[in-house]
Amino acid sequence: MKNKIIDLLAAHVDALTRQDIAGLIEIPPKADMGDFAFPCFRLAKAYRKSPALIAGDLAQACSGESFLSEVKAVGGYVNFYVDKQQYVKQILDTVSSSPSYGSSDQGKGQTICIDYSSPNVAKNFHIGHLRTTIIGNSLYKIFSKLGYKVVRINHLGDWGTQFGKLIVAYKKWGSKEEVEERGIQELMELYVRFHKEAEKDDSLNDEGRAAFAALEQGNEEYLAIWKWFVDISLKEFMRIYKILDIDFDAYTGESFYRDKTAEVVQLLKDKNLLVESQGAEVVPLDDYDMPPCIVAKTDGSSIYATRDLAAILYRKRTYDFSKCLYVTGLEQKLHFSQVFKVIDLMGYDFAGDLVHIPYGLVSLKNGKLSSREGNVIFAEDLLRESIQKTTDIINKKNPDLENKEEVAQEVGIGAIIFNDLYNQRIKDVTFDWNKLLNFDGETGPYVQYTYVRCCSVLRKVGDVSGVMEPSLLTDAASLALLKEIDRFPQVVKDAADRYEPSVIARYSMDLAHAFSRFYQECQINVEDEKLKASRAGLVKITASVLKDALALLGMKCPEQM
Ligand code: ARG
Repeated sequence: MKNKIIDLLAAHVDALTRQDIAGLIEIPPKADMGDFAFPCFRLAKAYRKSPALIAGDLAQACSGESFLSEVKAVGGYVNFYVDKQQYVKQILDTVSSSPSYGSSDQGKGQTICIDYSSPNVAKNFHIGHLRTTIIGNSLYKIFSKLGYKVVRINHLGDWGTQFGKLIVAYKKWGSKEEVEERGIQELMELYVRFHKEAEKDDSLNDEGRAAFAALEQGNEEYLAIWKWFVDISLKEFMRIYKILDIDFDAYTGESFYRDKTAEVVQLLKDKNLLVESQGAEVVPLDDYDMPPCIVAKTDGSSIYATRDLAAILYRKRTYDFSKCLYVTGLEQKLHFSQVFKVIDLMGYDFAGDLVHIPYGLVSLKNGKLSSREGNVIFAEDLLRESIQKTTDIINKKNPDLENKEEVAQEVGIGAIIFNDLYNQRIKDVTFDWNKLLNFDGETGPYVQYTYVRCCSVLRKVGDVSGVMEPSLLTDAASLALLKEIDRFPQVVKDAADRYEPSVIARYSMDLAHAFSRFYQECQINVEDEKLKASRAGLVKITASVLKDALALLGMKCPEQM
């Protein structure tokens, strides 16, 4: 319908392109203001007339089409009222004719790399890493739905001077048994101890640096210890990925590039981009108002940025990406601006396809979260706590529920994911258990519960394969629900364009609210078979779109809860 209106307007407005018109069309906040509205303010200058006069002329010119029941000019807007029955029919046709509603082939033949999660070995997987994991996973689902091939990359922080220090600390104070038993917690404590001791004795730092240099040169003993630290850490990370049901295509961490940084340094030299500064090799970026990008340290060892440069070249060659996305906290903005600029200066035209996707901080309301000693919050504890709290709620409200454990997992995790994705990613996220797990609030459990209600209605109605009659779905509540359903494909595209899963999260809430209204105003299990089939059919469509929308966020939908 929107396209038909765009065509109609395009035929009468020569001062704007079809695309301009499409961008201007709005959906009025209230249904009595029409189904679509076109603001005429931008035309005032070109036509040297008031927007109200232009709207009046346009309304007249656009009248008389059979798909429109009315066209009205109101205060500078042209309001379009579509023929309800045709509108409903068209939405139902679109939904039923597409094998996977909301998906498209816009990304056909294109590859997108997403670098996300990427926790640091021997350090805790903290709640910030939970955000990149959740956002990255959702972007993966969104782009896949649009037909892109997506490569999920876990750029583990598994290389760098810190490993030299950790190896020194382990050799001085560590024990195999303690590390085996306590895992990352023990490694973190060794690392903290290293820094404490180094404050008193600076020569330790030199030892640490020397150990990393040896590691980079292939010292076998050190490599074996390092590898062991990586394995221990990965085991803990994998537990989290399993809880979240998240997977990656490549676990190519920083260490993967250790034999690939020399090429980068050579290329930079060949292109005359490297300058020596206080013993280090840097690419000056003053012209771009940035501090220099350090590429090699005094002792020749590589750093974070060097490995990112090498990773970009490797990914371009290996995957020939059309976009490479990096989901990290906002604090890494400068790092990525520098690295992308260096790629640009190297003359690679794909520099513009590298995109940093930052997000805000996480905090805990009334910080009463069980945390292990040392005051660091492990993401795993948070996930488990959410599942536990959900289990308590189920035990109170619905103790006889089947597969309680599975449901508690889906809802407990869903609550955390939804809380993370409901606001624009750049906004800070707070963990407030009372809000997060409120089944009546703007929460994941609320949307999941809406799906459960759909399922329970459908179970009661029984067979819902009857023909849906458009003329029986033109009441205000049904139409409002259908309009939400109609929006889904565009919502998925918008979310991808803006790299913004919150667009989907917001949408799922709108859809849940529209269903709630429909459920109140329209009885579904009625005598009249035709009406019953039409309404039940609408419930079925709603359930499937809700489920698909939540799946794009990385959430599951239990059928009972
Ligand atoms: N390991 C880093 C961290 O925890 C994130 C890595 C992001 N990816 C990258 N290619 N630099 O902060």
